[in-house]
Amino acid sequence: MRRRLILAACVWIGAAAAYALAMCALYLRFGEHVLAWASIGVLFAVALAHLHHLYAACDHLRALRDELDRDAEQLQHLLFLLRCVDITRPLPPLSGGCAVRPDVAAYLAGLILDMRPRAVLELGSGVSSVIIGYCLRQAGGGTLLSLDHDADYAAQTQRWLCQHGLQDIVTVYHAPLTQVPVRTGVHQWYDLRAVGPLPSLDFVFVDGPPWSTQELARLPALPLLEQHLSEAAVIVVDDYKRGDEREMVRRWLAGRDDWQVLELPTQRGMAVLSRRLQSRSARAGKAQ
Ligand SMILES: C[S@@+](CC[C@H](N)C(=O)[O-])C[C@H]1O[C@@H](n2cnc3c(N)ncnc32)[C@H](O)[C@@H]1O
Repeated sequence: MRRRLILAACVWIGAAAAYALAMCALYLRFGEHVLAWASIGVLFAVALAHLHHLYAACDHLRALRDELDRDAEQLQHLLFLLRCVDITRPLPPLSGGCAVRPDVAAYLAGLILDMRPRAVLELGSGVSSVIIGYCLRQAGGGTLLSLDHDADYAAQTQRWLCQHGLQDIVTVYHAPLTQVPVRTGVHQWYDLRAVGPLPSLDFVFVDGPPWSTQELARLPALPLLEQHLSEAAVIVVDDYKRGDEREMVRRWLAGRDDWQVLELPTQRGMAVLSRRLQSRSARAGKAQ
């Protein structure tokens, strides 16, 4: 396609050049110097207009090709998800709004099916709650507590869970945002009183509150949940390519050499945080 565009532009520019040069020669022959220069000027203007058009079209094609590549990648992840997880009804859309994309869903499924966590906490409910529910059922047990600050989204997720028959595995809590103290001051975050006592958590998926609620909207997650994490717990952070999420993880891990980060190559970025193995066995030794 790009080759055809370039060819078409070359033909146009060539034809315009031939015409302008012929006119120029004609005017020069009859001593019309001003008209001869005008023909050359017109030639340059036409050539420039075509080059500009060609450049814009190539840019557009390049963007289109990148988009197709990204879609193909997402399709590949979707196929993986549908092959690995026994999903029995059509899923809500894994696109648009802020739902997890197929790449995130596929990595989440892989992690949960491998780790088989007993207690999972999700910050920000939605289609991810349905996928995690299916994975826990397939892994043979485990429960998901899913928090949403927005009552309507919490209700919608609850409806999806009922449609998929996952309400015995996943519990959705409407946990409005409230002021919580963190080291750097006061922050808005989920009101954990809505959930009651938390179990020992093996897996936390951080996908809320939305970034628009405030700067570093998800920052309180680790400070407030750390005491509830099991020794082998992992924390999965979505949208890790965003500046806020990178800064949040940087602050979380500053001075904590016992934690490590694994970055997964999703389109919006994903980070998996866990305690290093040596630190886990050292802590287990101290506890005995
Ligand atoms: C990043 S979204 C969570 C998405 C969820 N994990 C999923 O996979 O669907 C964070 C919060 O944004 C809100 N939300 C969900 N969909 C939204 C939409 N289309 N537009 C605006 N906010 C939305 C919900 O309150 C949700 O808890």
